[in-house]
Amino acid sequence: MSNHFPVNRELFDDVMVPNYAPSAVIPVRGLGSSVWDQQDREFIDFAGGIAVNCLGHCHPALVSALTEQANKIWHLSNVMTNEPALRLAKKLTDSTFADKVYFANSGAEANEAALKLARRFALENFGAEKSQIIAFKQGFHGRTFFTVTVGGQAAYSDGFGPKPGDIDHAEYNNLDSLKALMSDKTCAVVMEPLQGEGGVVSPTDEFAKGVRELCNQHNALLIFDEVQTGVGRLGELYAYMGLGVTPDILTSAKALGGGFPIGAMLTTNDIAQHLKVGTHGSTYGGNPLACAVAEAAFDTVNTVEVLDGVKAKAKLYVAGLNAINAKYHMFSEIRGKGLLIGAVLTEAYQGRAKELLNAALEEGLMTLIAGANIMRFAPSLVIPDEDIVEGLARFEKAVATLAK
Ligand SMILES: Cc1ncc(COP(=O)(O)O)c(C=O)c1O
Repeated sequence: MSNHFPVNRELFDDVMVPNYAPSAVIPVRGLGSSVWDQQDREFIDFAGGIAVNCLGHCHPALVSALTEQANKIWHLSNVMTNEPALRLAKKLTDSTFADKVYFANSGAEANEAALKLARRFALENFGAEKSQIIAFKQGFHGRTFFTVTVGGQAAYSDGFGPKPGDIDHAEYNNLDSLKALMSDKTCAVVMEPLQGEGGVVSPTDEFAKGVRELCNQHNALLIFDEVQTGVGRLGELYAYMGLGVTPDILTSAKALGGGFPIGAMLTTNDIAQHLKVGTHGSTYGGNPLACAVAEAAFDTVNTVEVLDGVKAKAKLYVAGLNAINAKYHMFSEIRGKGLLIGAVLTEAYQGRAKELLNAALEEGLMTLIAGANIMRFAPSLVIPDEDIVEGLARFEKAVATLAK
């Protein structure tokens, strides 16, 4: 078959399942925090592939790790282990509370493993009665049927037949709501240490500590879904470190691979032993290519310069967004932590986040939304300050267009 057909946005509608509605822009290359489309138009990237591209596009350390590994060995399956996976697991355990790592290919899969492990741990330690999983409204944990049901938006899990059972949802930042649901039948509480998709909502310190205490009281495991917050996004290697609350299981993906698909579940020896040989697995999980890139991403991000840089760049963003808002009064709040920033539209602009995203794209800026009313920014953790300034100038133009 020849390649003589137009490769454009129309082709998407012809050949792709219609579960996504991608933009008309088709990026073809990127470098740092800039991206170029098929027409060679340049965009500044404040989206980071939804908080994935922690080192921007084509970072030399990642390109070199990928190409070096590509010339060695690509794939083995878990019938054999491999050096990059072992090195990455060693670095993850040395740098966190965890003793053991399970590798997956995505955030949803890392969470699927965490949930299955929590259920197995409870079954083997306390019996079949202890199976309740509590998550939070507006939370997001992925799209497998288990994880999407655990996620806090029923609309995403409705319409696929009978759902996995014994899953309840409490209000985020409301300890009483969690307390009312918890009992000795609670197997695990799953939370994002900052809700990303659900609107860039930080937990209060009191809430985070209270969740940990309630889990302790009821012998329930605390699972932190750090798929979006992990690997430097909030200015710490993992967000739990900034909160001063240690989970029993932590999941990581997105930034972990810097753009190469990988997920990981981290836990303690005591809990890990319940995933015995044959209880869970994946063909690709811990693939050498993915782990080699992730190791390079991890080494690069896990430095004082990059993590302190995130905090400094966050200040630049917040100051810039506040300055824009002082002129246009479009946002009721600029919130978030590190380089996961939300700008909440005021009453007057309700439901117009997508429109603002499109206006920004017109100005040469890629952004994200979190629901219909919140703009979200999750750029590279090493985005140059000049790109932040230029991107915010483009954002201001988009805001001005909407304000007209
Ligand atoms: C907190 C959180 N958990 C899980 C996921 C799912 O990750 P993936 O899309 O890699 O399956 C996401 C994706 O947005 C997320 O933000």
